[in-house]
Amino acid sequence: MAVVVKRLTRHFAAEVSGVDLSAGVSDADFGAIQNAFDEHSILVFRDQNISDAEQVAFSERFGPLETTVNSNPAGAGTVVTILSNLDEAGDVIPPEDRRMVFNTGNQMWHTDSSFKEVPATGSLLSGRQVPPEGGETEFASMRAGYDALPDERKEALEGLVCVHDFAYSRGLIDPNLLRERDKQEVPPVRQALVRANPATGRKNLFVGAHASYVLEMELDEGRALIRDLNQHVTQDEFVYRHQWRQFDLVMWDNRCALHRGRPWDPIYPRVMHRTTVAGIGRTA
Ligand code: OGA
Ligand code: MN
Repeated sequence: MAVVVKRLTRHFAAEVSGVDLSAGVSDADFGAIQNAFDEHSILVFRDQNISDAEQVAFSERFGPLETTVNSNPAGAGTVVTILSNLDEAGDVIPPEDRRMVFNTGNQMWHTDSSFKEVPATGSLLSGRQVPPEGGETEFASMRAGYDALPDERKEALEGLVCVHDFAYSRGLIDPNLLRERDKQEVPPVRQALVRANPATGRKNLFVGAHASYVLEMELDEGRALIRDLNQHVTQDEFVYRHQWRQFDLVMWDNRCALHRGRPWDPIYPRVMHRTTVAGIGRTA
C-alpha cells in the first residue's frame, strides 16, 4: 500500500489514505507521513478503528508523548487524554457540570500545551463516538497567516516574546475554575511570537488563547496585538473545519496551527481520545 496525500484546502490540511494505523506503518510510509505533517500541518486519516495501544504506538513514532495535566478523569501520568461527556455509567454528563465547563476551554482558539515551557509538537485525536452534527474541530494556519502579512509587519514581529499562561486562558471562562494549587502546577512561560519549522525553515505566528501578554510592551498594547493576530489567522481563508466521522484520526501541528472544538447538542455522546507528541525545546 502506498500513502496518498490529498490537499483539503488551498493553504493547509490534507487527507492521508493508503495506511492502516492498527496494522502498523512501515518506515517508508512513516517518512511520507512525517513529510506530509511538516508540509500540510493537519492530517486526516479516515476509518481508523484503533485501540489506545495502537494510537500510542503510532503517536510515539513522532517522539516521546506528553502526560496530561489536570483535566483527565483517568488521573495524572497517562499519555491518553480522554475528552468525553459520558460518566462511568455511560450517561451523558450535563453541560453545566464542572468537568464539562473545564473542557469548554477547548472551544477557544488555542494550541495544545503552549502554556508549557516546551510546547507540544503535535496532537492526535481519535473520534471514538461522534455526534451526528456539530462538535466539529476547526483549525487555523498560523503559517498561512504569517505568509499573508506585509514584510514590514513580519520584521516588526520578529524577536517578540509572549507570555502564555493557562490560568489566564481558563480565567477567561471563569476566574474560579482553577484552584490555587492547579495554578502553581502551570506557571506562566515565555514563547516566541514567530517560530520556524526546524525541517523546512517555514515561519509562522504562534499565538492562541493561552497567550496573555507581550514582553517589553504595555499590557494593553500587547493584548491588542495578540487579539489582532488571533483574529487575523482565524479568518475563514486560513481555516479548515473538520466534520467528524466515527474512527477519524486527525493529527495537527501545534507548532503552527490553532484549533478549537465546536459545540454540539449535549444529548449526543462525544468521546475523543488524544495523544500528544512532546516538543523538543523551548521557543524563547
Ligand atoms: C484537544 C482539543 C477539540 C475538540 O483535544 O486538544 O482541543 O474538538 N479538542 O475536541
Ligand atoms: Mn486542544
